Amino acid sequence: MKIALASDHAGYSLKEYLKSYLEKKFKVIDFGTSANTKADYPVITITAAQSVAAQECDMGIIICGTGIGSSIAANKVKGIRAALCHSTDFAVLSKKHNNANVLVLPGRFIAGCYAQEIVQVWLETQFEGGRHENRINQIKEYENRGLI
Ligand code: RB5
Repeated sequence: MKIALASDHAGYSLKEYLKSYLEKKFKVIDFGTSANTKADYPVITITAAQSVAAQECDMGIIICGTGIGSSIAANKVKGIRAALCHSTDFAVLSKKHNNANVLVLPGRFIAGCYAQEIVQVWLETQFEGGRHENRINQIKEYENRGLI
């Protein structure tokens, strides 16, 4: 599995922490940023999200300070279902119900070891399909045709 990993400056420390963990198990493509110095989240987020939408990466993990900016930006990319998760429960449900293909984390509000647990369960959990698939198809219909 190939994972797109990205953060702005506010998520940089957590990105590096998670990168060491992820690289032991997966191929990781790091879309930056590469230092603690200020880096605007939109370009970094959208570039990483586009790699998932284009199926160059299987999943994305994106971090900014609150996770809010990156969620907004990532969800502008067609085909992206980005979920901002503060807990393992949210991470599990974002996969089971929403088939999230991007996990967004709040770098300024979460400890590294807990973020790693969130990442682990998120990567392990499978989409349930069924009624949830119908709902995702409604989103796709809107993305593709602008109709609801
Ligand atoms: C950066 O200061 C901060 O605004 C950003 O990381 C993020 O929280 C935006 O939503």
